[in-house]
Amino acid sequence: MALRSLVFLAVGAIAPLGALAEDIHFCGPAPYYPSQYTCYDGNFLCPILYGQPTLRCGEACYSPDMYFCGAGDQLHLIATLGPGNPFTLQVQSSNPAINGRPVEISGLRFRVGADVQTSTWCYHAPPMYDCGSYSNKTILRPEGNLHVDVPGGQYWFFDGTTGALRATAAGKAAGEGRDRAGMGVIIYTEGYFWFVGSTYWLACKEPGAAAVYNIVAPIIESEAGCERIKLVTVLGTGQKGAYSYT
Ligand SMILES: *[C@@H]1O[C@H](CO)[C@@H](O)[C@H](O)[C@H]1NC(C)=O
Repeated sequence: MALRSLVFLAVGAIAPLGALAEDIHFCGPAPYYPSQYTCYDGNFLCPILYGQPTLRCGEACYSPDMYFCGAGDQLHLIATLGPGNPFTLQVQSSNPAINGRPVEISGLRFRVGADVQTSTWCYHAPPMYDCGSYSNKTILRPEGNLHVDVPGGQYWFFDGTTGALRATAAGKAAGEGRDRAGMGVIIYTEGYFWFVGSTYWLACKEPGAAAVYNIVAPIIESEAGCERIKLVTVLGTGQKGAYSYT
């Protein structure tokens, strides 16, 4: 059952060999590295995963991006995001170069990194479309579309062959991917953007680019050149992201 496999039992505090120089701390009698574990109540260790501390709930550790700890130390799934709630995506990673960064559409692909910027095109036709009214951030909607004004809309989907998380093109060429819009994920409110079929996404370095990583669902044969990440949702303000994404 999925729930059980996602909950991490308290770890018997094994400090890994060969880690970078870091002071060993003790949690009760158990040695640990503070970069990898959090010590709760002086005797209970929970791992730090994808750059995020997991929390204690009774005798288990959990991610608050998926669960909350209820009465009697029972873990419950947090709510999924209902229709009509625009959101942005943020990366969680043990790699500081991408941890906490927003996911952005560029070249109709979802990417992350210091050298990535959301790529938009605006049709300035006041009073209908005022380019200054857009945030130019990459904003998704749970229904599978993007928060845009372009007639016909744009959609987010992952490519069933390459795994790439992508946006459909605006306008007449919009066909490809639209039939897969919004499929294959569970979207938690201020929590995981969960790819069904895996516990993680991949950030795959764009060859030849400095700090550009493509977001890819882990359906590819080899993960070489990729690192495992989590994606979480951050609720938007209602401001539209762009007239269209390019
Ligand atoms: C978004 O980009 C448009 C140009 O397409 C610009 O006019 C507008 O001021 C930008 N919005 C923000 C919040 O920077």
